[in-house]
Amino acid sequence: MSKNFYITTPIYYPSAKPHMGHAYSSIVSDFFARLKKIQGYEVFFLTGTDEHGQKIQRAAEIEKKDPLKFCDEISKTFENLCKSLNLSNNDFIRTTEERHKKSVEHLWKVLEDKNEIYLSKYSGWYSVSDEAFYSNEEIEVIDGIKKSKSSGSKVEWVEEESYFFKLSKWQKPLLKFYEQNPKFILPKSRKNEVISFVKGGLKDLSISRKSFTWGIKVPSNTDHVIYVWLDALTNYLSALNYPDINDKFYKKFWPADVHIIGKDILRFHAIYWPAFLLAADINPPKRVYGHGWILSGDEKMSKSKGNILDPLEIINQYGLDPLRYYLLKEVSFGNDGNISNEKLESCINSDLANNYGNLCQRVISFCEKNIGLKIPKINDFDMEDLQILDNYKNNYEDLKIHIDNQNINFYLNFIIDQLFKANKYFNDQEPWKKKDDKKRLNTIVYVSLEIIRKISILLYPIIPQTALKVLNIFNIKESDIEFATILNDKYLLTEDRINKIEILFKKISK
Ligand code: ME8
Ligand code: MG
Repeated sequence: MSKNFYITTPIYYPSAKPHMGHAYSSIVSDFFARLKKIQGYEVFFLTGTDEHGQKIQRAAEIEKKDPLKFCDEISKTFENLCKSLNLSNNDFIRTTEERHKKSVEHLWKVLEDKNEIYLSKYSGWYSVSDEAFYSNEEIEVIDGIKKSKSSGSKVEWVEEESYFFKLSKWQKPLLKFYEQNPKFILPKSRKNEVISFVKGGLKDLSISRKSFTWGIKVPSNTDHVIYVWLDALTNYLSALNYPDINDKFYKKFWPADVHIIGKDILRFHAIYWPAFLLAADINPPKRVYGHGWILSGDEKMSKSKGNILDPLEIINQYGLDPLRYYLLKEVSFGNDGNISNEKLESCINSDLANNYGNLCQRVISFCEKNIGLKIPKINDFDMEDLQILDNYKNNYEDLKIHIDNQNINFYLNFIIDQLFKANKYFNDQEPWKKKDDKKRLNTIVYVSLEIIRKISILLYPIIPQTALKVLNIFNIKESDIEFATILNDKYLLTEDRINKIEILFKKISK
């Protein structure tokens, strides 16, 4: 089995600076990237910005800036956000880069050579905000303005010469592909949505525009620019140096293991993208996961609605790891989720400070006072010791399966449950009453330290900085972290020195 793992975020539009919705997709993707890495996989984690098309051209015009200069500035804020979120991304792609242009032009030519493209005329509705074509049935009139029913964004009438991709002929092959790859689209509800849409019939897709210039030119007809979605989706290949299919990155990492996206862009990823690839004789990705939306009130948080939360402000106020933990825990993955400062604060206090922070603090201080800064000797494990340690072995296979189905909630609930159990174990065992029974006292502390180590490994993909602080107590470095060691009950070595612990989370007083 290949031990390579390729995961991507959407490439975001640099039409405005990033908001919490973008941070969410990126944090989720980083969580999986780190998890696979500690499972021993070679991971390629890609993110970037989607810089062509009318949406960007118009945004630049409003600011009276040259579109590339405009993109340079805002793309930088997305790149900086990667650092602020402590993402482990291996690359950051911009669609205005030469490597990407080469790749898109090549894919176009392949589709042209395979007779998948023809020239005709498009007339219909277009949303610049979504960069999407909509049929009459997909639009409605609100306050005299024609809008997309699904996104609520304004549509305008477009009538121009355009190249088309023969999407209609891929209806049956796509349906067969979904059937043969039942987990291509997750979660399941989204998959059903897509399948019924495809069953409803697919029209050929307009894939070039003539009325503006900001994009990659159609190689054989430079009056046209390539449709921004065909351009953007290809980023997943261009980062692997496509069309050089003998390139080591391409060979190792294509097809992608999972594209993490929001449900707003499911149609592009789950229908158009595999259709383009099948037509070009390239394997489609293994999975597209369409997560839900971060809501503000009961609306999607988005720049165009003007209801955004700035992730940098939250990080300044509360710290990065609390934000990462909160987003992963609070939003049931796949569904929409509401977030608020109050809930974030109570999450910091209860889960992070009281549960994890407190466990680490009390066990390590107790160890320091009663045993010294070293790993105690172990004697035979009692039933209670084995019971708590066995939880990790008993759930190990399930954890792995759930990780591979992007079931973040199973993973987090397991951790939360183990944190409660660990605190309860330490309370119930009352090591402070066992000062005359050094053997038992030592064993209780040993087991508690082992559990802190295991939980910290599990927490590492979620809150890497904090988990590393704790693992540092045991002199475990980032490159030493191995997921499989949660199976080891005696990983910590007696007499090894341990380090003092610093405060992990400050409680927020109301
Ligand atoms: O669609 N909640 O870029 P985009 C959760 N360039 N996630 C959200 C969100 C919210 N409120 N708002 C945004 C594009 N996102 C294209 C993508 S990919 C080849 C091209 C996240 O800047 C979510 O992942 O509009 C969503 O799909 C993506 O940002 C859209 O970002
Ligand atoms: Mg959008």
